[in-house]
Amino acid sequence: MSARPLPVLDIPAPRRAEMPRRPAASAHGLGEFATDDLALPRFHVWTLGCQMNQSDAEEMAGALLAAGCAEAPSMDEADLIVINSCAIRETAEAKIIGRQGYLARLKAARPGLRVVLTGCAVRPENRDRLARRYPAVDLFLRPDEEPELVARLGLASPTAPGLLARGATEPAEGVDAATPLARPAADALPAVRARAVAGAQVARRSTIQAWLPIIYGCDKTCTYCIVPFSRGPERSRPFDDVVAEARRLATAGYREVTLLGQNVNSYGHDLPAEPRFAHVRRSREIGRRIELDGRPDIAELLRAIDAIRTADGAPAIPRLRFITSHPWDLGERLIAAMAECPSVCEHLHLPVQSGSDAVLHRMGRQYTVASYLDLVERLRRAVPGIGLSTDVIVGFCGETEAQFQETLALLERVRFDTVFAAAFSPRPGTPAARLPDDVPADEKRRRLNELLALQEVIGWERNRAWVGRTTEVLVDTVDRPRGHEHGADDRGDPREVAGRAVPADGVRLGGRNRENKLVHLAGPADLVGQLVRVRIEHAGPYSLTGSLVGPAA
Ligand code: SAM
Ligand code: SF4
Ligand code: F3S
Repeated sequence: MSARPLPVLDIPAPRRAEMPRRPAASAHGLGEFATDDLALPRFHVWTLGCQMNQSDAEEMAGALLAAGCAEAPSMDEADLIVINSCAIRETAEAKIIGRQGYLARLKAARPGLRVVLTGCAVRPENRDRLARRYPAVDLFLRPDEEPELVARLGLASPTAPGLLARGATEPAEGVDAATPLARPAADALPAVRARAVAGAQVARRSTIQAWLPIIYGCDKTCTYCIVPFSRGPERSRPFDDVVAEARRLATAGYREVTLLGQNVNSYGHDLPAEPRFAHVRRSREIGRRIELDGRPDIAELLRAIDAIRTADGAPAIPRLRFITSHPWDLGERLIAAMAECPSVCEHLHLPVQSGSDAVLHRMGRQYTVASYLDLVERLRRAVPGIGLSTDVIVGFCGETEAQFQETLALLERVRFDTVFAAAFSPRPGTPAARLPDDVPADEKRRRLNELLALQEVIGWERNRAWVGRTTEVLVDTVDRPRGHEHGADDRGDPREVAGRAVPADGVRLGGRNRENKLVHLAGPADLVGQLVRVRIEHAGPYSLTGSLVGPAA
């Protein structure tokens, strides 16, 4: 039997005796695909950050599975740990720095263990700094280098077995799933994605809901934000590639698809004009006006995916979402598509960041409070009952108490369903890092708590309006009866679900309605993955609870 070392750059190859052996056949049945005796690492991906990182993780896991590796359930059991990092705030990076000692101990116990750091903490200009901050890491890959993971680890091989991704039921179309991905050019993310999708090499974490990236990077210049530095400029995926991926997801039975991008409203501006999009007439402002006539946009994409129908004429993907939308370039064409496409959910995440024009100006957000309010009004008129969520930063450079109060006033006025709020965290290299970070930490915390307390009242009031109504829920989880984690994903109000006994009428289930409200209900576990009607009986500040009425119409 031959052993295969992981030839990580700058690291001496481990001795044979230290190398992990190929794992026994797993629950996923991967063992039956094993074609040789090579020892391949068991990998574990630890993902922090936003949906884009989760989507990237699915691609990396898919590539490793396709190379013949198996997935380990935890870091402790892995031979290869991939940390998919976030750098949006210092706390996100601190989480990984805080794990360096633990990783060093794991490596001391198992010298064959390799650690790779990917994601937004890896930026071109800071490799030396990275090596100092993350001493347990063997290899650093920027987000646009992630497709190189398998090749850089020396795992790409023509004999790599082609494995269907966990949970994926999509057949490979036209492309041999065993074909290893070629080493990609750094800016070739759209092409890499297309090959991964065609080869069924995206290890989707769910069989119900799928991420569908449509645009990479960000061209905006929000002065506080690290994302344009870590993810580079915007690159749209070709229109037909996105629609083809959506069609595959529909065929595989996905009930909900979320189009992803740092600013999905920018989609298509960098694609060539084509006669079939001659009816698309729009422009974009980036310091100057750019005419975008004849290019696809997100509205066109939503309509094309909505037009994928079942034999009875219903949308093949019943729920379509998109995130994130920048208020600057959310146009009438998108609002009309939201209003007219039955599959597009009545929910929008529309980050406002601040309720003060002066602060918005310093943030480089390019809109005013008045224009934001006008947008909200137009959305509510076009899509009655739309659920709205937002992001807010408190304590940005120079934010006065009066300016903070303007943000509270905006929340009172708009009455968002959900607000994701955070204290400003200066990010090295961003324009705001050169401004004085002059709101003391205690004051930032005080403002954050005050804002969250206000939003709890507003969110609760918005939720109470659902009591007595029947709503469509896509059931996606069996709630744990105890020790419910109240994590970043906000799976509900622990006061409402924690500690409750399993009800006689089934297990406790969770899901979301089209307006993105978290709904708990009791029912049989096999409702997971189904669209059902639920009558809402109770409202908490962060979730609703109701009883099962029946299947959705
Ligand atoms: N592209 C989205 C947009 O335009 O709003 C948001 C992307 S960012 C990944 C998510 C949120 O992180 C932002 O909306 C902002 O509220 C928050 N954020 C970004 N940089 C931050 C910083 N330096 N400090 C605190 N929060 C930050
Ligand atoms: Fe960051 Fe602004 Fe881009 Fe959002 S739009 S990712 S906040 S720079
Ligand atoms: Fe974090 Fe990068 Fe997303 S900084 S929030 S993982 S785009």
